[in-house]
Amino acid sequence: MIDLRSDTVTRPTRAMLEFMAQAPLGDDVLGEDPTTSRLEEETARLFHKEAAVFLPTGTMANLCALITHAARGTRVVCGTESHVFQYEAGGASALGGLAYHPVANAADGGLEPLALAEALATHRAAAEDSHIAPVGVVAFEVTQNRCGGTVPAIVGLEAASASARALGVPVHVDGARIFNAHVASGVPLSRYGALADSLQVCLSKGLSAPAGSVLVGARDFVRGARRARKMLGGGMRQSGVLAAAGVVALATGITRLADDHAMARALAATLESVLDGALEVRSPQTNIVFFRAKPGSRSNTDVVALLRERGILVGGMGAWIRAVTHADLAPSTVEEVASRLRSAR
Ligand SMILES: Cc1ncc(COP(=O)(O)O)c(C=O)c1O
Repeated sequence: MIDLRSDTVTRPTRAMLEFMAQAPLGDDVLGEDPTTSRLEEETARLFHKEAAVFLPTGTMANLCALITHAARGTRVVCGTESHVFQYEAGGASALGGLAYHPVANAADGGLEPLALAEALATHRAAAEDSHIAPVGVVAFEVTQNRCGGTVPAIVGLEAASASARALGVPVHVDGARIFNAHVASGVPLSRYGALADSLQVCLSKGLSAPAGSVLVGARDFVRGARRARKMLGGGMRQSGVLAAAGVVALATGITRLADDHAMARALAATLESVLDGALEVRSPQTNIVFFRAKPGSRSNTDVVALLRERGILVGGMGAWIRAVTHADLAPSTVEEVASRLRSAR
């Protein structure tokens, strides 16, 4: 099987497993795990933030951030296509007492400026009108998964962040794949850090670690997020076993992402040329390729089933089919996809 469903299918590298076996450990709930502390310090430094906290998943990192920033009864303004809104089981609402206020995503995955301005206007109105819930936090997603692994323009993110902060509203960045954005755009990580009051990165996607996310921010914010993590049951003991993989991921995984991006471009070109040109393929910006059946030919479901028959796994995402390139694919993957689909009609 050629597994293009997600970069989360990647297994830890040999270097990770070796470092995991020998990393110094302690009880992290007592603040005594040196490897977890090292990962937190290194991640905070990358984004020029004061502090960081290690969490088991990106979902928990986002939830901790949202409930630390925003009081119960306030709104989370986020994209209609955002992971926090679409795929986190409504956690901010169910567990945090927050109301989701989804606004349109722009084509580049940022938030539509007018839609964001309207959402922020409710915050101003709430100061005068007790009917209206204030905005507790604004969340961006970089890269934007459901928009096609897009890299939102940094100037747009900075402007959006400034408009929220001007009202005293904090900004969270779901940076599950922010290293892909950094490698694709050349934007320094510190510039992403500067526009965010908090930012979470996933180590378990393109970077190949088996689990873990790191949430960075100011020291006071991270103190609050640590309490939220404990409340959600995410305080781990010898978490350095996992953090060790994260240390190796940061040291070796970031620049390698360029290979995934190159493979995504080659895969897109191949998908365009097979099945008698029946697929509409979007030009990938990072490691995510979006494609779909052109109208009048077979359906997306048929395409996914045909690929599966040929041993190629992909997933549906809204109106699109998603293929994700990653470190565990053989260098010959794109040629292999082409050869398995050449005879298909
Ligand atoms: C954009 C984005 N944010 C957050 C997450 C959540 O990460 P986790 O699966 O570790 O909870 C994901 C996972 O796929 C994601 O794609």
